[in-house]
Amino acid sequence: MLRPYEAADAETRYRIHSDPAVLAYTGGARLSRAQSDKYFKAYLSRHKAGTNCCLLVLDRITDAPLGDCLLLRFPPTDPELVLALLPEARGKGISFEPAGALTAVVFASAPLGGIVAKVQPSNRASLGLCAKVGMVLVGSQPNHWDEAPDLVYRLARPVHGA
Ligand SMILES: CC(C)(COP(=O)(O)OP(=O)(O)OC[C@H]1O[C@@H](n2cnc3c(N)ncnc32)[C@H](O)[C@@H]1OP(=O)(O)O)[C@@H](O)C(=O)NCCC(=O)NCCS
Repeated sequence: MLRPYEAADAETRYRIHSDPAVLAYTGGARLSRAQSDKYFKAYLSRHKAGTNCCLLVLDRITDAPLGDCLLLRFPPTDPELVLALLPEARGKGISFEPAGALTAVVFASAPLGGIVAKVQPSNRASLGLCAKVGMVLVGSQPNHWDEAPDLVYRLARPVHGA
């Protein structure tokens, strides 16, 4: 289940984004709780302004947080899809549903040409997810935290009736 992040989710957001694997694969800096809360506030403002979409992934039975699903930097460029699950939620096929739902809703509600994901070549789960969502490899680009450039995947807006 997905719902927008709320101010009361600051601790959950910190827990998700201070995990070492998430930091390694997203290039995020290790932040103090206070720094994390400051960024979180900025995320919430951008979500409200419609320039980001920041959703929490919840277990639909227990309501426990499983991770988050973000769409960053809206047009003019293709927005970037970033998913991060808590360690105990990974490897169970959970990410496909939120990724599919978010991309479908965003294409239905915004005139976007595509959505991209930037993936470290060693991130097998993320590569697998991109393939499952229907993204195709369109290039690579350097990042600031790893020698290996990110692989850039893109999901083009579906053409209905083609
Ligand atoms: C990346 C992430 C969101 C993927 O979510 P997930 O629910 O764990 O992924 P899944 O279990 O659905 O795996 C996705 C696919 O990759 C495959 N896969 C997973 N781990 C793999 C591995 N080590 N080697 C090869 N394939 C792998 C799975 O088999 C699956 O494909 P399938 O359903 O066709 O079998 C999650 O693992 C995560 O949060 N990782 C840490 C943060 C991160 O890396 N975020 C992405 C930044 S770009």
